[in-house]
Amino acid sequence: MKPPTILVVDDQPVNVKLLTGILSAEGYSLIEAYNGKEAIEAAKQQRPDLVLLDVMMPDVDGFQVCRSLKEDEKTRFIPVLMVTALQEKEHRFQAMESGADDFLTKPVDRIELLIRVKSLLRIKKYSDDLIKSYSKLQEKNQQLKEIEEAREGLMHMIIHDLRSPLTIISGNLELSLIKLGTDAGARPYIEKCQHYCSYLDELIQSLLDVYRMEQGNLKLNLEEMDPWQLALETKDKFSIQAAVKGVELYLEKIGPLPPIEMDRMLISRVLANLMDNAIRHTPEKGFVKLVMDFHQEAQELRVKVTDSGEGLPEEYRDKIFDKFQQIKLKKTDKSIGSCGLGLTFSKMAVEMHGGKIWAEGQGKDQGCSFIFQIPARVKEYQASTGSFGA
Ligand SMILES: Nc1ncnc2c1ncn2[C@@H]1O[C@H](COP(=O)(O)OP(=O)(O)OP(=O)(O)O)[C@@H](O)[C@H]1O
Ligand SMILES: [Mg+2]
Repeated sequence: MKPPTILVVDDQPVNVKLLTGILSAEGYSLIEAYNGKEAIEAAKQQRPDLVLLDVMMPDVDGFQVCRSLKEDEKTRFIPVLMVTALQEKEHRFQAMESGADDFLTKPVDRIELLIRVKSLLRIKKYSDDLIKSYSKLQEKNQQLKEIEEAREGLMHMIIHDLRSPLTIISGNLELSLIKLGTDAGARPYIEKCQHYCSYLDELIQSLLDVYRMEQGNLKLNLEEMDPWQLALETKDKFSIQAAVKGVELYLEKIGPLPPIEMDRMLISRVLANLMDNAIRHTPEKGFVKLVMDFHQEAQELRVKVTDSGEGLPEEYRDKIFDKFQQIKLKKTDKSIGSCGLGLTFSKMAVEMHGGKIWAEGQGKDQGCSFIFQIPARVKEYQASTGSFGA
């Protein structure tokens, strides 16, 4: 490893000789300067690890040199050890004021000099290490920003450029079905294509919604409504999917539910996401239950969707609300028809209503519950700050 470099500054050559003699015997690499100007020049050009600086020099004195080094971005982290024959307190104070890190009095004691040098070099090394890690972090941060920008760009492309061809494909499939009549053998294939088209359409819609919410461009369209109506509609929507899988769907209402101010489209999609997840993660003969109740004290609607599926390990319970997060508990887990946006969307939608959403679970294969609560009345949401008015 390269030995640390020390710049020794004194207008008296004999003093320079004395100090460099002590320091070179310890293996340090040395630079010499005989006046203030030379010292500043050498420090800027050669960036030593420490400066040993005489105070009283003609023209540019030690205080000025020190101030100049501490004002420059490139040299401000180089420790300065002032060496002065003057013992007056006022000079020590002035040395500290000009940014010196420590000082020594002449005649210099060898041991004291070596102790101060070692300790300042140690501090310099910590500061170098910190600067290095900071610039590595900055580099990583920049890379992350670039990746994020690329992802945003891709998202933009997906949202805007995929939609129109998809609409054309769907329209043509619809026309083909009409032309084929009722008994054509190709009907199941076309219907399958239609099914995947509507999946792609939903996926693009989710991307678009999350993107708009992130940009603060999605506004709540609030109306007062009976939340139980949404529960009934959700059950209706998923009855076939549940029946095909042999999963029982239950609804339960605890106590009366007052009308709640909600964005119908957003909250029904939250319910649909939770229901879809619950059914997909529940094996045959399992159950999914949606419970609604109203907390009088908090004036909040509480919705709980519980399933009897594979459960959700505790370490994933927060992560799954992040974009594109899907948990593969088994190697065979597939995510065809899903991309990890449902819960991200649900969290954003619930939070826009001033509510919160979270997951609970009992353990492996013991099922899990997703619970969200929203206030009966939504305070004005400020999309720009992501906060709620009083
Ligand atoms: N009821 C549940 N039981 C077990 N794991 C679940 C349940 N609901 C969600 N998860 C886990 O959380 C992940 C994220 O869910 P999310 O709804 O955001 O995405 P997805 O269902 O995979 O895709 P998408 O909703 O976009 O179609 C799921 O991939 C799954 O690993
Ligand atoms: Mg989902």
